[in-house]
Amino acid sequence: MPDAVQSISAVEVITAKRDGGRLSDEQIDWVVAAYTRGDVADEQMASLAMAILLNGMDAEEISRWTQAMIDSGDVLSMSSTGRPLVDKHSTGGVGDKITLPLAPLVAACGAAVPQLSGRGLGHTGGTLDKLESIPGWRASLSLEEIAAQLADVGAVICATTPALAPADRKLYALRDVTGTVESIPLIASSIMSKKIAEGTGGLVLDVKVGSGAFMKTEARARELAATMVRIGEAHGLPTTALLTDMSVPLGRAVGNALEVAESVEVLRGGGPADVVELTVALAREMLTLAGITAVDPAQVLASGAAYSVWERMIAAQGGDPSAALPVAKHVEVHVAERSGVLTRLDAMAVGVAAWRLGAGRARKEDAVQAAAGVRLLVGLGEEVAAGQPLLELHTDTPDAMAGARAALAGGVEVSDEPSDRGPLVLDTIKAG
Ligand code: URA
Repeated sequence: MPDAVQSISAVEVITAKRDGGRLSDEQIDWVVAAYTRGDVADEQMASLAMAILLNGMDAEEISRWTQAMIDSGDVLSMSSTGRPLVDKHSTGGVGDKITLPLAPLVAACGAAVPQLSGRGLGHTGGTLDKLESIPGWRASLSLEEIAAQLADVGAVICATTPALAPADRKLYALRDVTGTVESIPLIASSIMSKKIAEGTGGLVLDVKVGSGAFMKTEARARELAATMVRIGEAHGLPTTALLTDMSVPLGRAVGNALEVAESVEVLRGGGPADVVELTVALAREMLTLAGITAVDPAQVLASGAAYSVWERMIAAQGGDPSAALPVAKHVEVHVAERSGVLTRLDAMAVGVAAWRLGAGRARKEDAVQAAAGVRLLVGLGEEVAAGQPLLELHTDTPDAMAGARAALAGGVEVSDEPSDRGPLVLDTIKAG
């Protein structure tokens, strides 16, 4: 958006928020556009981001901020696919491979899923990193290729384009190094600006709660979910959020190729019960938003139809869905020190272990190991005997084993107390 009001200065915007005031529409439009152009310096935007983190923004400010970020770039139009468009976004968790079975499942049910994803940073892993463990698979597609694949296959998972919400790209990198990531208004506007610019017709959010999630408490996760649902409503994008547990890893596999293999099991009608439950729960919400109510995603998953879409989706991007996945050069086990019940399997501990084994990256430029990660051999609440293997650690770099074992210390516990995992889906938040 061009400068609407030439007289606004960055210092005036910063001090208004620093002193607990609300920003006007003009101030928001100006500061986001000027920052994107380079007319507001990084140190000024960092200062404003900190003021927002400390003093918050109200619903109108958040909505306007989101719009200003959308306006900083292109808005895609994918309406020519001939099917209702619906997408899903997860705030990220350990072993969260749900997009992989979900996108082909929802496509197999009749909707089109344009899943434009990023790469993983830190302990949660990224969808593109997972898919890149499939030989030949290509993340970068042109807009024409995305549209053609959506019309033909119904599902595309690919790298986002730099033209979508460039203000967010710049601001997120700045927040990452200035201690300002954890602001709910900034997280909500960051996620929603990209999804709205992508041109989806409906959006389901998987907002994770727990040790392995961005949001450690249910109250914070609930606030983030409600904020994003409100933004969706204000921008005419029907949005539903599920609050889901991330205190324990999802499924039995954490790491890129390991998670692809588990997703294929789910697509073939098997796989861990929690991955199947969440995939089906999210599919139901997506299909509701797409207006497809006569199809039961649980049945479609069990029928193998989603697996056929998966094969076509992978092949359309150069991947060989039947190729063997990479296998780690070194595998060690972590055993139970005593007999009892597995009462603690902390998502953060397992996520950090997988990351240290090479599954994730510390900096944007780092490469990830396709085969690295953790396989969980025992579920929470199961009985184990002393010496029984609980987890497998996979890596190509054996020096990483010690760091992974250190990450697991205190995160995996066997005791005498019976322990059950709580519900996976904690709540559903809709507009209105
Ligand atoms: N993911 C995003 O896309 N943006 C944030 O601010 C946080 C997580």
